Amino acid sequence: MDRRRFILSAGAAAGVVGTGLTGYSSMNVVAATPWALKLQPARYALTEGITEKMVSFSPDAPPAVIRMKQGVPFSADVTNGLTDYTTLHWHGIRVPNKMDGVPYLTQFPLAENETYRYSFTPEDAGTYWYHPHCMTMEQMARGLTGIIIVEEKDPPSVDADIAVNLRDFRLQPDGQFYPKLFTARGAARAGTKGTVITANWQQEYIEDAPSGGLARLRLVATDPTRIYKLVLAGAEGKIIALDGHPLEKTRPVPTAKNPLILSPGQRADLVLKMPEAEGQEVVVSTLLGYEPHVLARLRSKGASRSRDLRDLKSLAPNPISVPDLAAAERQELIFGWSPEGNGTQNGFCGSFGYTFWSINKTPWAGDAVSGTEPLVTMQRGKSYILTLRNESPNQHPIHLHGLTFRVLKSNQGPVTPIWTDTVLLRKNEIVDIALVADNPGDWAFHCHVIEHQKSGLAGFVRVI
Ligand code: C2O
Ligand code: CU
Ligand code: CU
Repeated sequence: MDRRRFILSAGAAAGVVGTGLTGYSSMNVVAATPWALKLQPARYALTEGITEKMVSFSPDAPPAVIRMKQGVPFSADVTNGLTDYTTLHWHGIRVPNKMDGVPYLTQFPLAENETYRYSFTPEDAGTYWYHPHCMTMEQMARGLTGIIIVEEKDPPSVDADIAVNLRDFRLQPDGQFYPKLFTARGAARAGTKGTVITANWQQEYIEDAPSGGLARLRLVATDPTRIYKLVLAGAEGKIIALDGHPLEKTRPVPTAKNPLILSPGQRADLVLKMPEAEGQEVVVSTLLGYEPHVLARLRSKGASRSRDLRDLKSLAPNPISVPDLAAAERQELIFGWSPEGNGTQNGFCGSFGYTFWSINKTPWAGDAVSGTEPLVTMQRGKSYILTLRNESPNQHPIHLHGLTFRVLKSNQGPVTPIWTDTVLLRKNEIVDIALVADNPGDWAFHCHVIEHQKSGLAGFVRVI
């Protein structure tokens, strides 16, 4: 199919206007659909000066938090206001394949001024996120990573709902991006880290919440590289969900002894009881070595609401099919170095220029699909156990589109049996995951360290 015809037949609307979204102030609004989202150049005060050449949905604000409601149709007209190609992906949300935003695999990339209507009904409540899936090294590095909140059908009653987008920017001392957003040295190892660590595009994000109230805190790791080790100080509370899905057993607030590891793509929902006294803070930090680096401060405000953590009802589980482990078919996937040295640029979505990584010994930049076979072909409705084997000394947050899986076990000790879309494989770790192949289509499967993905650590699975 011709790319232009494909886009027109997908119902592209002409004359979509600017978004009118103003960053985080829009976060408590369920917008009427379709949303109008336009990728465009932006500038913002990340440091003392204004950083130019950023990418957002508005010229001067971070990408807005998008709120959806569980079981209620959502749609957005996404317009490409950039000169490079793009697509938009809804990370962690189980969408129909055509809505997944993966270039060539599910749609053709959008050229400048083209619009694509994404529409789907989120079945699962929780915290998710969005990002481009074409020219990702550029567009994600320059800012286009944002939070999605899918409200529960029957949400727990909290006094504040605070969403925190965690990411770095690779800026020079003058506050402008380094000409090289990623380095080959980084891509071949743990990734190229940013130089300015931010939360909601601030070096120290501050938000007020009612004193003595219950606050839901959604932490989202959207950085292309950094693995966060999160700790909270001054808080009473618990972790209620990971990667969008409610925990069967809540976990304590993370401390330096037991930090919460969030790797690129992962999310955590916590419920906190805010300090009773006005002005007191809950401090969210990430450990750099053993040193906490402050990301965000939640400040108690007003007279105490004297809430009790036990007032909060637990979250209902999301409707995920439970795999039949006894009948499951097993497959193995090996993540390791690339057997080749040079990458090819296929299509419009950028490549690293080298391949360093591979899945099952085959490097793929994750975009143009011609000539690439699925890693696994699954029968719709059947259960599978996938053994993910990391044969490298680096860590890889492995992400699967379109299907939610269960983490079963690791060769490196006990695991929390969670439902997720992204699992971190540590050095030489072997993890078994299980799923029901209940969503037909070709689903991208890759490392979420974007440099690893774009230098070979990518592939896709097929459900027929
Ligand atoms: Cu967060 Cu392939 O995506
Ligand atoms: Cu995804
Ligand atoms: Cu990786």
